[in-house]
Amino acid sequence: MSIVVLLSGSGTNLQAIMDAGHPFTGEGRIDIKYVVSDKHQAYGLERAQNRKIPTVAQPQLNLLEKEVTDICIANSVELIVLAGFMRLLTPDFVKKWKKKIINIHPSLLPSFKGAHAIEQAYEYGVKYTGVTIHYVDEGMDTGPIIAQEIVPVAKSDCLNDLHAKIHKIEHRLYPTIIRELLNG
Ligand code: GRF
Repeated sequence: MSIVVLLSGSGTNLQAIMDAGHPFTGEGRIDIKYVVSDKHQAYGLERAQNRKIPTVAQPQLNLLEKEVTDICIANSVELIVLAGFMRLLTPDFVKKWKKKIINIHPSLLPSFKGAHAIEQAYEYGVKYTGVTIHYVDEGMDTGPIIAQEIVPVAKSDCLNDLHAKIHKIEHRLYPTIIRELLNG
């Protein structure tokens, strides 16, 4: 049971996935075969290398998708996990891996899609926002929802507080759901 992680940035969610499981017995650990990025400078690549996980950086989307396909086939990977991957995958790739690609998004979808969800929810003044994990389809942040968790916004929260609250939930929820999906 293994996964590939795709990311474009800092990779705190990757870190949470790598840290999941029992530190001594290894029970509940998630087997990450590769970490792939469209950005050479993504800090997530360094996090992976620190754990001796192989990495690929490929800015060209069609080449990146081909690499990911080859990796998945060669390693019998069950799940492609997007963790802050900022590109829209092509319809062909998404069709090929239907119900095998998941994404995490920092809002209660379908509200606040896109790259600035936390800021937009905060500026809108919502009292509740949250985290969504969903299957990836051809759209942006639109596939079938797998899990959601609510994050209340307190009157005293500044934008940084809200970022921190949401990321804390993400880092717990994503490994849990990945494990559940891998275990069927
Ligand atoms: C997360 O907030 C995730 O929900 C969104 O992108 C962010 C990635 O953060 N899709 P990180 O790179 O895992 O720190």
